[in-house]
Amino acid sequence: MNLERLNIQAQQEISNVKSLEDLENWRVKYLGRKSELSLFFDSLKSLPFQLRKQQGNKANQTRQFLLSLYQQKREDLEKNQFDFEFFDLTRPGKKIKKGHLHPLTLVLREIVHSFEKIGFEVVEGSEIETDYYNFDALRIPENHPARDMWDTFWVKPKAKSRAVAKAAMARRRQKSKMLLRTHTSPMQIRYMEKHQPPFRIIVPGKCFRFEATDAHHEFQFHQVEGLMVGENISLANFKFIIREAIEDIFKHQVELRFRPSYFPFVTPGLEVDIRLKSKTNDEWLEIMGAGMVHSQLLKNVGYEANQWQGFAFGLGVERIAMIKYGIDDIRLFFGSDARFLEQF
Ligand code: FA5
Repeated sequence: MNLERLNIQAQQEISNVKSLEDLENWRVKYLGRKSELSLFFDSLKSLPFQLRKQQGNKANQTRQFLLSLYQQKREDLEKNQFDFEFFDLTRPGKKIKKGHLHPLTLVLREIVHSFEKIGFEVVEGSEIETDYYNFDALRIPENHPARDMWDTFWVKPKAKSRAVAKAAMARRRQKSKMLLRTHTSPMQIRYMEKHQPPFRIIVPGKCFRFEATDAHHEFQFHQVEGLMVGENISLANFKFIIREAIEDIFKHQVELRFRPSYFPFVTPGLEVDIRLKSKTNDEWLEIMGAGMVHSQLLKNVGYEANQWQGFAFGLGVERIAMIKYGIDDIRLFFGSDARFLEQF
C-alpha cells in the first residue's frame, strides 16, 4: 500500500471539508474500521517479523498524522460554529419600519373627539342603504329635482341565500332599491325610529356619489352627520355648538359664514362656509350642509312635533383635512402616493 499517496489524498480532501458532518464521513473513510489503513494493519499479521515491524511503524505514523489532521479540523469547525451562533446583546437593533394612520383617519378621530367632548354620542350606519332611507324618508321622492344632487351608485343584490332572497323580495314589494349611500343623513331617520328624544348623535362614515372628480370633489368621501333633538332647540344652539366643535378641531378661532340653502329634510336649510385667509388668498370654502329638522320627519317617526325640535348637519371630512393640513387637491387622499401619505 502507498502510504504517501494516502496522506496526500486525505490532506486534500480534508481541506474541502466544511461541516462536522462531512468531517465524520472523512474520519470513517480514512480512520474507520473498514478504511484502507485499517485493512492494511490487518494485512500486516501475515508478514515476517522484521518487515511487519518496519511497515507497522510507517502505518502508525500515517495514522498519527491523519488523527492530528482530524483533531485540528474538528477544533476549527467547532470554533466557527460558535462564532456564528454567538449573539451580541450589546449590538444596536435593526429599526422596524412602522406604518401610520391615514390623514383622513387622524382628522376623523379629531372631529369625533371634539363632538364627544360636548356630549355627542357616536353612532354608525351602513354604507349600503335603501333608496327609501337615502331619499324618500328624507322627503326626496323619485323625480324630485333635489335627487339630482346625489347622482347615485346603485347596488344589485345577489340573491345567494334564502334570507337574502327574501329580503330582496320584501324590498321589491316596498319598491326599495339598494344603493351606496350618498350622504350620512339616512341615519337621522334610522336613529329617530328607534330612539326617543332628547339625544345628540354624530354619524361618521363614507359616502359615494357618481360624479366627476375635481380638486374639491371625490366620488368617495367622508361625512360626519350630526343630529340633536330636544326641547327648545333652535338654530342659535346649532351655531354655538358648531363654532365650539370647529374651533376645537382647528385649535384656533375661525370665521364661519352661515348661508341660506335648501335641503328637503330641513327647514330652514343652510350651508356653512369657513374663511381661508392667507397673505395671498382670501376665500370661503363650504364645509357642511345643515338646518332645523323638518317637522314632517319628526311626525313620520312618531314624535310630537310641537314638543320636540332639532337641528342636523352633514360635515365634509376631506374639506376639514384639506384646510387643516393645507392640501389643495382632494384627490391626493386616495391616490396611494407614499410621498404624500408619509408626511402625516
Ligand atoms: C348633504 O350631503 C346633506 N346630507 C347635508 C345635510 C345634513 C344638510 C343634515 C342638512 C341636514 P351636501 O351635498 O352639501 O349635503 O354635502 C355636505 C358636505 O359634504 C359638503 O359641504 C362637503 O363638505 C361634503 N361633500 C359633498 N360632496 C362631496 C364630494 N363629492 N367630495 C368631497 N366632499 C363632498
